Amino acid sequence: MGHGIAQVFAGAGHQVRIFDQDSSVLASVPERIRANLVPFLELGLVAPEQVETLLGRVKPCSVLADLCQGADLVIEAVSENLGLKRKLFAQLESFVPPQTILASNTSAISIGLIAEGLAHPGRVLGTHFWNPPQVVPCVEVIRAPRTDPAVVDRVMELLNRVGKHPVRVEKDVPGFVGNRMQHALWREAIYLVEQGIASPEDVDAVVRLGFGLRLAFLGPLQTADLAGLDLTRAVHEDLLPHLDCAQGPSPLLERKLAQGHLGAKAGQGFHSWTPESLAQVKQNRDRTLLKILREVLPAPKP
Ligand SMILES: NC(=O)c1ccc[n+]([C@@H]2O[C@H](COP(=O)([O-])OP(=O)(O)OC[C@H]3O[C@@H](n4cnc5c(N)ncnc54)[C@H](O)[C@@H]3O)[C@@H](O)[C@H]2O)c1
Repeated sequence: MGHGIAQVFAGAGHQVRIFDQDSSVLASVPERIRANLVPFLELGLVAPEQVETLLGRVKPCSVLADLCQGADLVIEAVSENLGLKRKLFAQLESFVPPQTILASNTSAISIGLIAEGLAHPGRVLGTHFWNPPQVVPCVEVIRAPRTDPAVVDRVMELLNRVGKHPVRVEKDVPGFVGNRMQHALWREAIYLVEQGIASPEDVDAVVRLGFGLRLAFLGPLQTADLAGLDLTRAVHEDLLPHLDCAQGPSPLLERKLAQGHLGAKAGQGFHSWTPESLAQVKQNRDRTLLKILREVLPAPKP
């Protein structure tokens, strides 16, 4: 996520510094951004002569203190682990002046917990980008109980200026807005497979080629309005008691993990994968999303 987020700001003309504790990851940043730019170039959203300019704005930093020098905003995108993030925020706080905004790209960890114990929690908030961040416009901006509302306003404005579509999340709830909805869907999808109701291929097809097709154009609440709230209520009365409401990971998911079926990175999850099919899917995903966005929104910035 980090290099994609760096690309968003560099594409909008900002000078960006990027740090990773793994020097090989840090060294691969220019090459990864170059690869991210391929679909933008193919669709004419970036001119070939802009590539080196954009890359020139992203400076890899091998020392965290150097990254922090003079930064207006630091966005953390390290692994999803509270202890790690807290330690990093404490380090960041020791390197930046009190007015520097500190943001976390966490998917689901409480921003308030990340900020706990810091001297200036008012400048800490969540900026949850969606993968791939250089393509997907929406960013959830999460206000923790102690976040200064003026900091939220400044980050909303900045994200708008770099071509994103920020949304305000007014309460620091687990999973914020997007991952609550996304994982409610995944829980039900896994349940349907576990119960032998449909195959993984067919469950995915119902979303991709069924109701999911319209989700980039009409959100669920717009769709409920179109269906009618009376119909929505009637369906909920009949259907909600039958939906999975397990409070923990599904036994099917646990069995898959025990078998080493960790998903695309292991070659097997609900589907089978090869390195080639994975690379192909990622490239086609970005190209397809950019084409859809061209229809739904003004051209996104790279
Ligand atoms: N991958 C996604 O789809 C996605 C989407 C939205 C948000 N997120 C969130 O973004 C964050 C990063 O996710 P990712 O998928 O890019 O993970 P990743 O594992 O690909 O990258 C994390 C990077 O953090 C580095 N790192 C770990 N500890 C560090 C430290 N102390 N200092 C500096 N660098 C350190 C690692 O070397 C690694 O390169 C997580 O909080 C994740 O939940 C991920």
